[in-house]
Amino acid sequence: VIGHELCGEMVETGAEMRDFELGQRVTVTPAIGCGRCPDCITGRSNLCTELKTIGFQFDGGFAELMEIPPSAFAQGNVNLVPEGLSNGEAALAEPIACVINGQELLHVGSGDIVAIFGSGFIGCLHAEMALLGGSEKVLMIGRNAAKSEQVKQLIPRITLVDSRKGDIREEILGLTSGRGVDVAIVACSSGAAQTDAVRIAANRARISLFGGLPGEALGFLDSNTIHYKELSINGAHASTPEQNRQALELIAQKKLDLAKYINKTYPLSKIETAFTELGRKKLFKIMVDPSF
Ligand SMILES: NC(=O)c1ccc[n+]([C@@H]2O[C@H](COP(=O)([O-])OP(=O)(O)OC[C@H]3O[C@@H](n4cnc5c(N)ncnc54)[C@H](O)[C@@H]3O)[C@@H](O)[C@H]2O)c1
Ligand SMILES: [Zn+2]
Repeated sequence: VIGHELCGEMVETGAEMRDFELGQRVTVTPAIGCGRCPDCITGRSNLCTELKTIGFQFDGGFAELMEIPPSAFAQGNVNLVPEGLSNGEAALAEPIACVINGQELLHVGSGDIVAIFGSGFIGCLHAEMALLGGSEKVLMIGRNAAKSEQVKQLIPRITLVDSRKGDIREEILGLTSGRGVDVAIVACSSGAAQTDAVRIAANRARISLFGGLPGEALGFLDSNTIHYKELSINGAHASTPEQNRQALELIAQKKLDLAKYINKTYPLSKIETAFTELGRKKLFKIMVDPSF
């Protein structure tokens, strides 16, 4: 069973469930480390080589009942949902946590001009977090005009750049006083976007390869440009339990409004319709609620 962005109510106890009570609502950081390796011990369990993930190695949340693996309790992956959050908002703490993880290495700060490739849900979350972090300007580079326009409605402070028109470099230089961007986030699975991220970067810019590429991914980055511009190129993979707690806190404090991205809610029996609709209509998120 898939489904790793989830929220549920505790309905049965196991011996491991020490810090929780029946009836409480929880979310689970889906990537569960071994708890013993150097990465796990230093709080970087997302990098554990023995990582097991809910919805992949463990059964996921698209179900009426789901077992939380004992290791999730043992490694601190189970988080209580703060009061006032809907199940849908709480479930979206997981992608937010991944974005927090990606941006941790980017040090987005006041005055930064941030470019984001991809106007999907993840690109939107990156834009929201960059604005929250004090960035001066967020440029969203997309090639799906309808989706980008929707994003502009949801995040009015962004500037749209249409990458279907051809080379974006001149336009980006025009928007950045000829300097290029301080931060570039590749929030799509595109080698061409990775190449462009290096081309539009200012000196000493930070770049996140947030989206992985399917298969082999060699030869997209120009290493001499990285060398001469002194660029920092970062990877990003999943998130830690602590980052999931931070994400829940941000949503609970209303610093992030995620409800606006939840377009619809479907019962579990209609999950196939939900997936079809998500693919066809370019919605952001559809919640699947097994209690319907
Ligand atoms: N690092 C992590 O922890 C992590 C977590 C979640 C998702 N991701 C990755 O983030 C990426 C985005 O996720 P999503 O759910 O928003 O995907 P999505 O498919 O909904 O959105 C991606 C968007 O990027 C656009 N796009 C594709 N190629 C482009 C290009 N060359 N230039 C500009 N835009 C382009 C597409 O049109 C689409 O609108 C995916 O690659 C996903 O695997 C990474
Ligand atoms: Zn480990």
